[in-house]
Amino acid sequence: MNNFELYNPVNYVFGKGQIEKLTHLIAPNTKVLLTYGGGSIFKNGIYNQVKQALSHVQIIEFGGIEANPHYETLMKAVEVVQKENIQFILAVGGGSVIDGTKFISAAVHFEGDPVEILQKRILITDTTKVIPFGTVLTLPATGSEMNSGSVVTIAATQEKLSFGGSALFPKFSIVDPTVIESLPQKQLQNGVVDAFTHVMEQYLTYTHDALLQDRIAESILQTLIDIGPSVVEKPTDYKLASNFVWCCTMALNGLIQKGVPSDWATHMIGHELTALYNIDHARTLAIIGPNLYKVMFDTKKDKLAQYGRRVWNLSGNTEDVAEEAIEKTINFFHHMGMKTKLSENTDEYQNTAEFIANRFQERGWLALGEKQNITPDKVREIVELSY
Ligand code: NZQ
Ligand code: ZN
Repeated sequence: MNNFELYNPVNYVFGKGQIEKLTHLIAPNTKVLLTYGGGSIFKNGIYNQVKQALSHVQIIEFGGIEANPHYETLMKAVEVVQKENIQFILAVGGGSVIDGTKFISAAVHFEGDPVEILQKRILITDTTKVIPFGTVLTLPATGSEMNSGSVVTIAATQEKLSFGGSALFPKFSIVDPTVIESLPQKQLQNGVVDAFTHVMEQYLTYTHDALLQDRIAESILQTLIDIGPSVVEKPTDYKLASNFVWCCTMALNGLIQKGVPSDWATHMIGHELTALYNIDHARTLAIIGPNLYKVMFDTKKDKLAQYGRRVWNLSGNTEDVAEEAIEKTINFFHHMGMKTKLSENTDEYQNTAEFIANRFQERGWLALGEKQNITPDKVREIVELSY
């Protein structure tokens, strides 16, 4: 097992009716910026619940944070925080609102041009230089409620870039599984596939000695396979909802990543597809993931076989089980409503592989993946295979 440090200071507040705990989680008289997205919180009653619990603080609102949040929008919120002397930010939303809030938090006191946080991937580690924030999660998928990472799009250049650092963990996150009742089916499907792929990024590498991490990863995958299709059909079922939400958080709160190699190339390529064609994040992963496993088969086949045997109960020789495991994954994604070819998601796909490979080359992203053997040429091959 590799050496590791495990640091996760998030006060994770889980369960029905927990939004009312906001009253105790934010100190009286704090000046709070409440950030939210396009308005779903007004339709499903979450806004009212939040406001009710926050009668003891002073609130300024900043709405309109779009899905795949834009740097340009977030900089407007940075101005509000500076002008109004905001002391705390409360993000009420899904991954986009939470990620956007992490950027706002980091940008307010950033010395230099905040766009560098994204372009130079600055690590944000000084807690005295960020605005503290908490979250009320409304869409389980990203794990952003319990991690310190964020992904922001620069609209002007169509670049979707990730950043983060230990100063960007939420102070608390309220996770009430009943919030999923108002989610459109498409977003529920996205949540399952995003969480599934988060596990795969940290699990589907090569065989190693971290036995417990593998077993935890496999059990998250199995749980998502078990409950994924039914939670989409019945989001009002609390047993399904609570397990789904917990899987999403556990998939990317850092725990299963400790002591093991990880990949993340599916996400890096997928982010390009969102930046270029505005395809939902999870849907880009369903397009790229299985093709990456195919192109990187030699590197990954032993782990694919372990995955096939333990998660899909397959048997046979390594190569056959590994190949069948990829097919099982694609079938599962189809079952979860994904269209796994790029051409089914956009008509403009023809030059995508070349464009992304060149972009990675320019950025110096020359060696991705757990073995650093996903070169721009491999990226081109993976994207071409996904057409
Ligand atoms: O904007 P509103 O009106 O709130 O509507 C949202 C949005 O349109 C809606 N929604 C959210 N909660 C709802 C709801 N609708 C009805 N009822 C509710 N309870 O859902 C839509 C999508 O929301 P969004 O926040 O964009 O989805 P998600 O949580 O999937 O976040 C995706 C973003 O997170 C990034 C992705 O790249 C993408 O930008 N990721 C962040 C990660 C992280 N911080 O660790 C890791 C992930 O891999 C991912 O990259
Ligand atoms: Zn993701």
